Amino acid sequence: MSKQNIYILGIESSCDDTSASVLCNDTVLSNVVATQKIHEEFGGVVPELASRAHQQNIVPVVHQAIKEANINKEQLHAIAFTRGPGLMGSLLVGTSFAKSLAFGLDIPLIDVNHMQAHILAHFIAEDGFTKPTFPFLGMTISGGHTQIVKVNSHFNMEVIGETIDDAVGEAYDKSGKTLGLGYPAGPEIDKRAQLGNPKAFQFTKPKVAGLNFSFSGFKTAVLYFIQREVKKNPNFIAENLNDICASIQYTIIGILMDKLKLATKETGIKHIAIGGGVSANSGIRKALKEGEQKFGWTTYIPKFEFTTDNAAMIGIVGYLKYLEKDFAKSDVMASSRLKI
Ligand code: KG4
Ligand code: ZN
Repeated sequence: MSKQNIYILGIESSCDDTSASVLCNDTVLSNVVATQKIHEEFGGVVPELASRAHQQNIVPVVHQAIKEANINKEQLHAIAFTRGPGLMGSLLVGTSFAKSLAFGLDIPLIDVNHMQAHILAHFIAEDGFTKPTFPFLGMTISGGHTQIVKVNSHFNMEVIGETIDDAVGEAYDKSGKTLGLGYPAGPEIDKRAQLGNPKAFQFTKPKVAGLNFSFSGFKTAVLYFIQREVKKNPNFIAENLNDICASIQYTIIGILMDKLKLATKETGIKHIAIGGGVSANSGIRKALKEGEQKFGWTTYIPKFEFTTDNAAMIGIVGYLKYLEKDFAKSDVMASSRLKI
């Protein structure tokens, strides 16, 4: 007897991307992402504007995802949505919408932890990509998160390290702001870093015990360094931009790699899967590949569209939970500080 195909609609609205995706089992049929451009002019996400934009986007984005998947909504088996963590106003839009649609279609509702989803995105079936084997270390690096997680099984995860202040993406974006680059600055710093000398300028790495991270001191160090140099030479940034970017990137990758090495030592686990917007970074990708040669690691880097915030990762968690009949109650609430 052939297995029944399960259709899941995933909805993501935790930050500044409104996204909807339809999966058939572990295969993505559609993944529509509306990135809110409104925040660019403010140099960071403005929560109030984000929730308003989600309200405007959610209906057309869900409609488009169902259309691109070439199904009709009556074929859906369940609706998965991001319950948290994230911005409360943004989460509420996705949560309320998912609840109403599930109620209207009389199908189960599945709540998803956004941080688990970044890691479980690796279980989306995709040509040329291998799913990780348990246990493995998940490192989620983005504008909102920096975590190392010991993943024992799909839903047995332990956070073994996380940032005590800013996320790594914020270190990129705030350093970029100091340099006069647009928001988000990560991709531009990455591009320029590849043209510059990583050892041109030195920034000290923060000393944080164990597997935790800190990036706020680093960001301030970059700011003071630039202010000092610009006082001496007003053209300092323009004359040294690629070298500054390369030095910033070198330090950040060094911080991430030091903690990953420590995590593999402490846990004895050499399988590492990364996720989040910063996993698009050329420096971290190169460093992980080197780790395969030097330390015998096996590394997993997801397809780009599943690294940044997207609903396909919410959908895959929905599918995995559907198989376990792990459904949410109808009074489930959004939770901005939801833990793994
Ligand atoms: O996952 P994401 O889209 O949204 C959050 O949940 O934050 O990540 C966005 C972050 C931004 O901070 C952006 O600067 C950073 O990812 N980013 C990068 C690169 N591409 C995106 N940082 C460094 N290098 C990149 N190539
Ligand atoms: Zn995220």
